Amino acid sequence: MMATRAQPRPDRQEPVRSGESNRDFEFTTADFTRIRDLIHRSAGISLSDHKRDMAYSRLARRLRARGLDTFRQYLDLLEAENNPAEWEAFTNALTTNLTAFFREAHHFPILADFVPRRAQPVSVWCSAASTGEEPYSIAMTLIEALGDSGARQASVLATDIDTQVLAKAEAGVYQFDQVKHLSPERLKRFFLRGTGAHAGMVKVRPEVRALVRFEQLNLTDRDYQLRSSFDAIFCRNVMIYFDKPTQAQVLARFEPLMKTGGLLFAGHSENFTYVTQAFKLRGQTVYELTRDATGTRTPQRASGATHHHSTSGVAA
Ligand SMILES: C[S@@+](CC[C@H](N)C(=O)[O-])C[C@H]1O[C@@H](n2cnc3c(N)ncnc32)[C@H](O)[C@@H]1O
Repeated sequence: MMATRAQPRPDRQEPVRSGESNRDFEFTTADFTRIRDLIHRSAGISLSDHKRDMAYSRLARRLRARGLDTFRQYLDLLEAENNPAEWEAFTNALTTNLTAFFREAHHFPILADFVPRRAQPVSVWCSAASTGEEPYSIAMTLIEALGDSGARQASVLATDIDTQVLAKAEAGVYQFDQVKHLSPERLKRFFLRGTGAHAGMVKVRPEVRALVRFEQLNLTDRDYQLRSSFDAIFCRNVMIYFDKPTQAQVLARFEPLMKTGGLLFAGHSENFTYVTQAFKLRGQTVYELTRDATGTRTPQRASGATHHHSTSGVAA
């Protein structure tokens, strides 16, 4: 299923309201508890107490859009009418989409070293792709590691639950500021510079975009309906929003989707060591599938020596 097209989201630039006096709508603890329950059920996201203001400011826009007076009315309507478009707007409003090109940069040389040693064509899944910076960084790394013609066979599947970020990702257009930290070689090879009305913008070159396919996918769905298997899965900075049982379910669904010896890239504060036996940490928040070509799990190494990049526990 391709991402549905959506309008840009101005609320992401709005200052977060704090304090009851600034609020147009009454927002009770019961409302917040209900929101937490609904987003946990629909997207696996565990909203912590300090997200209360964020939930208010982002969902107040939905109340205005629907001409409603109270959060209770909105939540009643969300549940009663069960309209997929409103659920999508609700979910999109509550996701956190922070990302960057070559974020957690130490992962990309690991990927670059890994892919030429794999049977070709290689296939990578970026499972929380947000606005596209991460899957495009993966595609750029594949081109650097495999060469233009080698990378042409390769593919990057980029998915996210949030349809609005996927629409931005597919467009592949960014502010120059977002790429100014990249090397001049990467800028020249992978981006087109905007001119005239587009000055100050860049667009990811078509040969990079050709490697990447965007689709909506909820990581908490029971069946991902994916037909391919992957040499590497990037699942970075999304599991921190899930509780441990949800993390374990997601990892169990990843396992059969990985090729033997496949790598799982996690975010800097995500530690799956105590969540799964199927992946073993090889260092720098990169995990390796423990299943061998016969489908048998290889024994876990009894070593904690490589934990230095993932010391913090997983937030629930
Ligand atoms: C903080 S961003 C991380 C983006 C990127 N992986 C990175 O590390 O730069 C988290 C992303 O996870 C997505 N997300 C949250 N819940 C999800 C779910 N249940 N299924 C798929 N994506 C989800 C959000 O929409 C958001 O784009």
